[in-house]
Amino acid sequence: MRRWHRRHLLGMVDLSGEEITQILDVADQFAGVLDRPIRSVPTLRGWTVVNLFFESSTRTRVSFELAEKRLGADTISFSASASSVNKGETLRDTARNIEAMRVDSVVIRHGSVGAPHFLTQHISSAIINAGDGTHEHPTQALLDLMTIRRHFGRIAGLRVSIIGDVLHSRVARSDMWGLKTMGAEVTLCGPATLLPKHTESFPARVTTNLDAALDGADVVYALRIQRERQELGLFPTIREYTRLYGITAERLDRTAPEAVVMHPGPINRGWELSDDVADGPRSLILEQVTYGVAVRMAALYLTAGRDPTSLNLAPR
Ligand code: CP
Repeated sequence: MRRWHRRHLLGMVDLSGEEITQILDVADQFAGVLDRPIRSVPTLRGWTVVNLFFESSTRTRVSFELAEKRLGADTISFSASASSVNKGETLRDTARNIEAMRVDSVVIRHGSVGAPHFLTQHISSAIINAGDGTHEHPTQALLDLMTIRRHFGRIAGLRVSIIGDVLHSRVARSDMWGLKTMGAEVTLCGPATLLPKHTESFPARVTTNLDAALDGADVVYALRIQRERQELGLFPTIREYTRLYGITAERLDRTAPEAVVMHPGPINRGWELSDDVADGPRSLILEQVTYGVAVRMAALYLTAGRDPTSLNLAPR
């Protein structure tokens, strides 16, 4: 295994298959740690991580915090709503002030595309993108890839259909790039108003026809519908969206027999997924959340410059 060479984890678009495999392999080892009675290792003792969340989050924020604690790092979480951002402080000044307290890694979620990339030019900490606007959410894609790889034993050759609001979804973009790099066949499906206009460069089939997208799919990946999109007139009503694009048990009859259902959360129950699908035997949604901790441990570990070939997994 080659040594990891990236200082930051900003997106999936430029990660190679070898790099993705390396993260997933390290995450598999950390998943083993998380199954033990003592679920922590001292691997990042003395390392300080700040979680900068300028947008709401449950899964990403909690799993980064858990990942940091499981690795023995010192960790601080910051909510924009309770900070001096409210007094007009800029992102650059906020980050520089936090770094002046001798921070090693910054995990950032921000509503603006490119905010993590911007930080790489102004502070020297390792930066991990926890979601930037409609752009990328790389650790979500990595936990999705880990879930698929552990379930099917492979990613290459699987047919993955990503359904819903592709236009505004950073998860759809990151998953598309990661899945394609790992050899899956990706289909993007949704109402025409919720699909990007220019998809020529996308390594995916794009369709508005849900039945065509579900036909023979191995993975049905439903995206969250954002209510504010309806207010912008991008689809008529939630009821209409659900009638045309909601994933129900009947609709899953078109998929491959062993097909699974995934969703990044939070779910709008009854909108993008019916309850019986969200909670049914094909659902991997809670496995995704579980693997999120191991993937984030791997992302923190590798971007801290630690050697994946000499992982010390002795308990602390
Ligand atoms: N999937 C995801 O990013 O969820 P949160 O917004 O709860 O972090």
